[in-house]
Order: sequence, then structure tokens, then C-alpha cells
Amino acid sequence: MIADMEDKDIYILGIESSCDETAAAVVKNGREVLSNVIYSQISTHTLYGGVVPEIASRKHIEKIDQVVNEALRQAGLKVKELSAIGVTYGPGLVGPLLVGVSFAKAYSFASGVPLVAVNHIEGHIYANFIENKELEPPFMCLIVSGGHTHLVNMKDYGEYEILGRTMDDAAGESFDKVARAIGLGYPGGPKIDNEAKQGDPESIIFPRAKVAGNEYAFSFSGLKSSVLNYLNSCRMNSTPVNKADVAASFQAAVVDVLADNAMKGAESCGAKRFALAGGVASNSALRLRLEQECKKRGMEFYVPSPILCTDNGAMIACAAYYEFKKGKIAGLDLNAVPALKLGTEL
Ligand code: KG4
Ligand code: ZN
Repeated sequence: MIADMEDKDIYILGIESSCDETAAAVVKNGREVLSNVIYSQISTHTLYGGVVPEIASRKHIEKIDQVVNEALRQAGLKVKELSAIGVTYGPGLVGPLLVGVSFAKAYSFASGVPLVAVNHIEGHIYANFIENKELEPPFMCLIVSGGHTHLVNMKDYGEYEILGRTMDDAAGESFDKVARAIGLGYPGGPKIDNEAKQGDPESIIFPRAKVAGNEYAFSFSGLKSSVLNYLNSCRMNSTPVNKADVAASFQAAVVDVLADNAMKGAESCGAKRFALAGGVASNSALRLRLEQECKKRGMEFYVPSPILCTDNGAMIACAAYYEFKKGKIAGLDLNAVPALKLGTEL
């Protein structure tokens, strides 16, 4: 613990640029958001049907200065008044990560404000602390995003035991691929979520994959292939495709697998609290299902507001706060680590 920290307010600037959001936020004492600025590149990448890493890097370079200045302006703080600068250094796309890391290092060097390195997946988990001041580890957490699907037992701040993760596609990735296949466009998650509201989730039975040898692990590539096969056979038989039914049935399969494994994991650890995190945590069917499953088991259920589920700087600042309190300051030799892992595998 850094001296004098107990009685001083701690202001952390969080910078996030691991994928297609350029984001910065200022958070006071770990859980109070003073500003949260997100510049989304979605409209650019939509033209290509997915994130183009080179274009993402260039957009981050164009926007990062503006986004950080705006976050400081909204918080009413000058850079010298910050206690630390937290930055995502992995996992993610190497070019986009390097923009945030280089910017944060330059800012830290020029101002003398210490630098803190943050794991992006950890950031998603910490988004749950922002609106739930009473939440403390231990709890079970399901992180579902465009790049990750992890079932994690968070034992303490910075201490994670991974029960299961995806063996192939991430949950969000499967939403994006299936949305593209049924012609809903990018990003697929919110589009499928909406379309599914008009469809019947029981109209098409898609597989609920189990992974041999780990009952908590996930696999979504077979489900994606099954949707593609269904669409092909409709085309070959000249049967019209009901997009809403496909979306609802696909979503039901994803939600079933996520909820089943998550509840099994939570029960095996005797968890009293359960938190959902990551971009896919915005999914209305998943939120509802997990809330009901937790209620049945007498478990407290937590999920951030959608604006904190998507990639943002506030969750990075929150995670940086707990690292900073442990005295974990990064050197100016900090590098991007695109395949950065979280915790230890069970
Ligand atoms: O966490 P995030 O913003 O970025 C990564 O770290 O990957 O997650 C983005 C992912 C995308 O795959 C997007 O389609 C998915 O989250 N997503 C959703 C919803 N909103 C975003 N998936 C399902 N339902 C949603 N409502
Ligand atoms: Zn993310």
C-alpha cells in the first residue's frame, strides 16, 4: 500500500483502446465515475462487416488525444491532479493496444503521474463494482465479449481461478458471425438481440455443445456451423428464412449453454454472488435468464448497465485503482500483450 493513501482521494484516468472503442474516464476512489467518454468506431467498421485492425489503429491515433482531454475536462481535473493513469495493455488487437499504451506512457512520463497496467478482461469484471458499491469478492463471474468467454471464480482483488473458457469462438464472435450470415450486419449482438424479440426461440433446435473433459468450458463454433447449414438447406430447398426465428433460436442456444455452465460452476464453488460482464452482458435474454437462475438459487445477481458492459475507460480506471493500492506501478518499458491471460486455469 502506498503511504498516505488512506486519507487522500484517489483520481484515476483509465484509457482503453484494445479493439474498436477509443475510451477514457476519470474515476474517484475506485468506484465513483467523474467522466466516461467513449468514441465508438462502429460506423467505420460496419462498412467492412467487422473490425479492420489497421483502420482501428489509425482511428485510435486520430481520437485518443481528444477523448482523454474530454474525460479530464468533464471531471474538472488537470493531468497533474491525477493519482495514476491506468491503461489496457492486453488482451486485444496489437496495433490498437499499442496506441493506448504509447499514449499513456507519454502522458505519464510528461506529467510524472504513475502508470498502471490493466488486463482488459479484468476491467470488464470490475465494471460491476462501479454501480454496486457494496460488491466485494469472492464471487462467480461470467465474462462474455467479442473476444472472450470466461467463467471465473474471483477469489479476491486480482485473484482469479478460471473454471472454463471457450475452446473456439467467443460468445460475441458467434453473435457477430451468425448476424452476418442472416444479413443483419455488424455488430451482430445488438441486432440479433432485437430481431430475436419477434421470433420463436423454440422454432429451430440448434445444438447445445458440451466440451469433453471440462463441464465448465464452452464451444460455439459447432453452433455457428449448424446455423450456416440450416441457412444453406433453406436456400437449396427454396424455403424462405424467418430471420427472427433463426435469431431467437440461435440466441436461446447460446443463453442455455452460458447459463447452464455458469450455474454449475457457481454451485460447485458455493458462490453467494454472481456477476455478468463484457459486451454480450448487454444481451436482454442472457440478463433475464441469469437473473432468474440466480434468484432460484438464492444468489445475488449483478450486471453493469449496458454503457459499462461495452468497452470503456471507467472499468479500466476501476481495475487500475486496486492495482495502484497494491503499489503495482508499471515501468515506461510497458508493452502491449495481445494474448494476455487472466488468472490460473483450474
Ligand atoms: O466487450 P466488448 O465491447 O468488446 C470486446 O472486448 O470484445 O464486446 C463486444 C461484443 C460484440 O461481439 C457484440 O456483438 C457483443 O459484444 N454484443 C452483444 C450485445 N451487445 C454487444 N451480444 C449480444 N447481445 C447484445 N445485446
Ligand atoms: Zn471488451
